[in-house]
Amino acid sequence: MIEHRKGISIAVLLIVAPPLVTLIATAHQMIGTGGDGLIRARAVTASAPPATQAPASAPAASGAPGATPGATPGATPGTAPGTAPAPTAAAAPPKPPAPVPGRSALDFSASRPAWETFLRDADPAAGKQLAANGKPAAGVQACVACHGQAGITPSGGIFPNLAGLSSEYLAKQLADFRSGARVQPLMNTVARALSEQEIGQVAAYYGTLAGPPMHVGEFGGDAARKLDVQGDGARALPACANCHGLRGMGEGPLIPRLAGQSREYFTDQMNAFRSGSRQNDDVGVMRAFSQRLTDAEIQALAAYYAGPAPQQR
Ligand code: HEC
Ligand code: HEC
Repeated sequence: MIEHRKGISIAVLLIVAPPLVTLIATAHQMIGTGGDGLIRARAVTASAPPATQAPASAPAASGAPGATPGATPGATPGTAPGTAPAPTAAAAPPKPPAPVPGRSALDFSASRPAWETFLRDADPAAGKQLAANGKPAAGVQACVACHGQAGITPSGGIFPNLAGLSSEYLAKQLADFRSGARVQPLMNTVARALSEQEIGQVAAYYGTLAGPPMHVGEFGGDAARKLDVQGDGARALPACANCHGLRGMGEGPLIPRLAGQSREYFTDQMNAFRSGSRQNDDVGVMRAFSQRLTDAEIQALAAYYAGPAPQQR
């Protein structure tokens, strides 16, 4: 009987102890590092926060003696209460460290690209006007002259369809042409003549238009189909569809539709990524993947996504 009870209490102990230890360790970790876990804010303090952010009021916890320019010289950490300029000095419990600009365990903000603000409250109707008329005073031709009436180029060639692309992708490309991050003389001239607001407007407008009819997969053969849906593990090539969506329809805000772009435009872009003359793919994915493809494969993929030439449709 006694043996039996002992057995039970050992079992209970074994069940209760591990989570308890974990709990205590976690609590210790959190309190010990001011809630910052293992990534300590002070380890990544690149530039000291502006003096307005709690000068001299973050004693021992911030642990960076002399880092706050506003602090009274000689005020050693831990003796902050009582020094004259600090208005909140009476608050006894140590404050959590001031937020660190950049990366810390408490920073959940993503870095926001500048063009995002171009799209805020952008008026697509104004964008439609601009697309149809251009900006003659600044020497900008109408977008429709090169990109077609409803964003679908009648002739194909080097001019991409804009219909079927997302407003975000369009705004990013225009911002990149404007800054020179993407180089193409015609579009660099156009984009530099547009204001940020106008970029937002045309991007908002073209983002509402439906892309050209789908002919993906009618040409290009099995090699292209395999690269699209399967990729090639031996070359560490993911399927194009992984990112560009099924049948090149585009996916999410920033991965463009490939379906219906002309063979020439497609090939131009792949070659530009391959040679590095287009390098606005932020983390270099397209530069990496295009280099693993042969010329013949790029031709096949071009035909695969484009479908028949415009006059054959
Ligand atoms: C003179 C002809 C011309 C005019 C006018 C023109 N574009 Fe373009 N546009 C091009 C060419 C050529 C390209 C392909 C650039 C390249 O090869 O990198 C292009 C590419 C683009 C792209 C990138 C598309 C993609 O799939 O990445 C966007 C966006 C764009 N143009 C928007 C506009 C807008 C908006 C206007 C009007 C304000 C405009 N373009 C006026 C010729 C023109
Ligand atoms: C890991 C994701 C990823 C994969 C996989 C991928 N792409 Fe892309 N691709 C992108 C992104 C992102 C862009 C847009 C880059 C930018 O912001 O300018 C892009 C752009 C392109 C463009 C330029 C389109 C235009 O309108 O200018 C082409 C062409 C293209 N990809 C073809 C392919 C092909 C073909 C494959 C398969 C062999 C492929 N991509 C696989 C992410 C991917």
